[in-house]
Amino acid sequence: MSIQSAFNLEDLRQQARRKLPRIAFDFIDGGADDEACLQRNRLAFQRYSLVPRYLRDVSQRDQSVNLFGHRYDSPIGISPTGLAGLFRPDADRMLAAAARDANVPIMLSSASNGALEEVAPIAPDNVWFQMYCTTNESINADLVQRAIRARVRVLVVSVDVPVNSNRERNHRNGFSRPLKMSPSVVFEALGHPGWVWRYLRTGGIPMMRNWLPYAPMGAKAPAVADMYGTLTPAPMVTWQHIRRIRDIWRGPLVIKGLLHPEDALKAVHLGVEGLVVSNHGGRQLDAAPSPLDMLPDVRNAVGKDIELMLDSGVRRGSDLVIARCLGARSAFFGRPTLFGVAAAGQAGAVRALAIVRAEVDMVLAQIGCCRFDALDERYLWRDGALLPQGGTLVPQTVDRPGPVTTLEETE
Ligand code: FNR
Repeated sequence: MSIQSAFNLEDLRQQARRKLPRIAFDFIDGGADDEACLQRNRLAFQRYSLVPRYLRDVSQRDQSVNLFGHRYDSPIGISPTGLAGLFRPDADRMLAAAARDANVPIMLSSASNGALEEVAPIAPDNVWFQMYCTTNESINADLVQRAIRARVRVLVVSVDVPVNSNRERNHRNGFSRPLKMSPSVVFEALGHPGWVWRYLRTGGIPMMRNWLPYAPMGAKAPAVADMYGTLTPAPMVTWQHIRRIRDIWRGPLVIKGLLHPEDALKAVHLGVEGLVVSNHGGRQLDAAPSPLDMLPDVRNAVGKDIELMLDSGVRRGSDLVIARCLGARSAFFGRPTLFGVAAAGQAGAVRALAIVRAEVDMVLAQIGCCRFDALDERYLWRDGALLPQGGTLVPQTVDRPGPVTTLEETE
């Protein structure tokens, strides 16, 4: 099935489902515990309506956004997704190239298969580097130094994985370290011969190349993955770690995974320039609120001087518009571009970005707003009322046709 026949991101997901063995598809698609958070992320967007304004000239529209001194063509970006090489060899390079071609940002995960030093040069304006703090302070510092040497534009530190979460689909499928290939898993995988062929041709489990410098000479991919598993998650990480990173990293620093307004404010006080309000796509704390629901409080806490971004559950152009109305500068997604890459390589990631771009453009026209940057909460309706709640509109007396007045007089 051609990638052009994917008309929306759900179509891409279905194409990926056909191409991937269940163990791999579920690893991407699944969430923690009962996957309630996954659903909450979608429902949060659906609780808002966009109230269109008509009779405005919307023939020229602009959805570009400025983030940390670079103008990106769309308000969408690619969230960091570790182990992408498992879904298609070289996926990290493909995602970076897709981000470059669409001129949108991509956060390269430190748990990627492509090494930072190989992937960053593909798209110097687009690749940001995302790291977790590990249990080893000198490795944390080295990761920052490597980002500096690779001339990465923005450093992102994810903080929402203090411990591994309970992902029951993975348990059921035997997705754990070491990767167990039970007979039923192998049998199911055989129904996806393209994936199996690529997996075997490239030597099986892909190497986490960012971690090779810290592994013993000659370590194979499973040993490197095991070593990574001893370094992360790092439950002892605190604000002190962020402070130490702030001391060495001079460029824009972003924290990903905060939800509480007080944490957001703390980050601002530490000199952080950006936040990705996120619940890790429902993959960590199943009882976590949706980032969209926290966004207004976070925005109020941090004021206007910090770049607020959002991810988790973004699947339509209208989601980006709603997030912008509530105070996010832009939004990111993780699974859709991974599904795209799994379905059709780089062309699939390009398709995911193009779908969202077209949807944003259409929604802007439909609601009568020419600039994504100009959106605000006055386009929103929720719980039976226009926003802002309480209303800023002063009731107008309706003018009846009467004596002709000049324009100047009426304005
Ligand atoms: C992730 N996510 C993630 N986040 C992060 O900070 N570092 C990482 O290495 C990963 N790895 C990862 C792998 C896979 C397969 C997925 C699906 C997700 C979370 C990711 O960055 C992002 O927060 C969510 O994917 C956003 O939710 P949606 O857009 O997938 O709903």
